Amino acid sequence: MALRRFLRFPGREAKGGARVKRPYGAGMTGLGKVVVLGAGNVGGSLAQRLAEMDLAKEVVVFDIVEGLPQGKALDIQESAPILGFSTRVTGATSLDAIAGADVVVETAGLARKPGMSRSDLLGKNASIIRAHAEAVRTKAPNSIVVVVTNPVDVMTYWFRKMVGFPPARVFGESGTLDTARFRWFVADALGVAPRDVTGFVLGSHGDTMVPVLSLTSVSGVPLVKLLPADQLAAIVERSKQGGGEIVNLLKTGSAFYAPSASQAELVRAIARDEHRLLPVSVHLNGEFGEKDVYIGAPAVLGRAGVERVVEVDLTAGERTAFTASVAAVREDLRILSELPG
Ligand code: 2OP
Repeated sequence: MALRRFLRFPGREAKGGARVKRPYGAGMTGLGKVVVLGAGNVGGSLAQRLAEMDLAKEVVVFDIVEGLPQGKALDIQESAPILGFSTRVTGATSLDAIAGADVVVETAGLARKPGMSRSDLLGKNASIIRAHAEAVRTKAPNSIVVVVTNPVDVMTYWFRKMVGFPPARVFGESGTLDTARFRWFVADALGVAPRDVTGFVLGSHGDTMVPVLSLTSVSGVPLVKLLPADQLAAIVERSKQGGGEIVNLLKTGSAFYAPSASQAELVRAIARDEHRLLPVSVHLNGEFGEKDVYIGAPAVLGRAGVERVVEVDLTAGERTAFTASVAAVREDLRILSELPG
């Protein structure tokens, strides 16, 4: 009897003579299905990270290029026996794959080439997002959407407008990536563990982003007491150009290892209802003196999405830089609103 039970097909068990399929996947988190739109370097890496973190029963990667999402998904899936994750990973070329998603991560769109700004991608990526938002609205009306497509603050605003969800359920990934770069540069300069450096990069995910020195510390020790002003200024500048530095090195395409890590951190915050305080592109409704704009600001993230925006104190200089960053996003929103179609 014991041997027969052992020999049964894994994942199935006898019940009244019939074979019952067990729910596939981790089952230990709240997420059933995560859909990653776009199977480029970012989407593919994100799907891999999500699978390895076992955050959902199912991760589906979508792309319009036949074979690409299926191939990447199968490749990731075949690592499961070695890495020990239970997540089912599949690829799809139909937006029907969105049906029933708990979380959708929008990575689709063109990436920058050397010499391009993120804003140069505006028109093309907006039309991709419009189609995807429509599909999400009809097929996964209760999902939480994380937008990654650049220029991310504008595209997140646009996605929310097109999908019609409450702002709590649509936010953009930017600050966690910019902050990770900033934290790394600080850690490297000081020779300390990267995870011990905490802080925020706020504002837009663009040239006007604001690494907030006044809120950065190493295990509670204020950063401004640890490094001289000229070195701090160099770190701030390098952080602001962090994405461009990788674009210039790669020559084709843009970064995807750190971006996918920061996106996975956000999906984990949702999946495990972690109430993380992280910088993301959120809808402001009076916070920081701004209304009806998406911009990088600290927010508490959990299973419901954005639980609240946290209005932190900034120095006068940081506040001015933040306001300028909002103005840059508003300018892109204005350009977008005037594009044909
Ligand atoms: C970056 O900063 C792709 O915008 C992304 O690397």
